[in-house]
Amino acid sequence: MTGLADSFRRSINYLRISVTDRCNLRCIYCMPSDGIPLMPHSNILTYEEIYVIAQAAAELGITKVRLTGGEPLVRSGLPKLIQMLAQIETIEDISLTTNGTLLSRYAAELKSAGLRRVNVSLDTLKQDKFEFITRSDNNLDDVLEGIEVARSVGLNPVKINMVVMPGINDDELLDFAVKTIDDEWHVRFIELMPSDGAGVTALRFVPVSDMRRRLEPLGELEPYLFGITGNGPARYFRFPSARGTIGFITPISEHFCFSCNRLRLTSDGRLRPCLLSEDEIDLKQPLRGGISLDSLKQLIRESVANKPLRHHLAEGYIPKDRLFSQVGG
Ligand code: 5AD
Ligand code: SF4
Repeated sequence: MTGLADSFRRSINYLRISVTDRCNLRCIYCMPSDGIPLMPHSNILTYEEIYVIAQAAAELGITKVRLTGGEPLVRSGLPKLIQMLAQIETIEDISLTTNGTLLSRYAAELKSAGLRRVNVSLDTLKQDKFEFITRSDNNLDDVLEGIEVARSVGLNPVKINMVVMPGINDDELLDFAVKTIDDEWHVRFIELMPSDGAGVTALRFVPVSDMRRRLEPLGELEPYLFGITGNGPARYFRFPSARGTIGFITPISEHFCFSCNRLRLTSDGRLRPCLLSEDEIDLKQPLRGGISLDSLKQLIRESVANKPLRHHLAEGYIPKDRLFSQVGG
């Protein structure tokens, strides 16, 4: 097998890079209400350091990169990082996950820097619920405008990620589904994962079978196997009359670890082979100590070799070291 493979022979070609632990929102499933103690700037990798790591990872076989946070657009100069990453020849796909609040301002600049596409986290279409879920007084309309601007500058497909929370926003599944018909949205419904630090500790989620039943009034979902770009675990469908699609991401009811292709880099420079395991390897100190490219590649290989087979959420294991906002979801 060429490229990077872990000890279970999974091919690893996708690197998610968290560029900051900061966020302008405080989503209830992601962060505690008063936020998290922020890391000093000196702990955060510089864009040059991220570039060196991405270059080493690309030489090993990483071909797709996603920028995450916190909220990546609160870090200044993000288009500059994208421009740097776009120069790495073997990286074919650069994408971004954002909460969308700042997207309309930056979309055009991001696109011309080399960004291909964006995922926007949006859990409700109602302003009052938006304020409740994000614990902020931000404007839902800013996110909706961000989605439209991103589409119009060609950051396609724009995918909308909705974390389905029982009793909070699961009454809006149909409203989001209608958007796939009326507005060509590509919506992904995500099962809520427990997060200790955010205070979501119990395993309460709406299983995909339930979600599908609730969508029945709109007709029969047909599998949609081709045409939507992605590197991830979603399974796609659409309603016969829709130009947009519906995806389901089911970390709990049908975990997708056996086909996982990803590696994560935290904003403070640690490689984490699994979102849901505490195992990490520090790259920042070695980098700042002048490590050679070959030794850096060796550390990346080591992290990949440590990738666990699967997570154990269903058995009650929740990682305690970091919040999702610190790893990039
Ligand atoms: N459960 C499911 N998804 C989560 N994310 C963050 N926290 C959780 C959680 N507890 C994902 C969401 C969000 C992205 C940034 O991370 O999809 O849109
Ligand atoms: Fe911020 Fe995204 Fe976490 Fe919400 S889910 S607090 S937008 S990082």
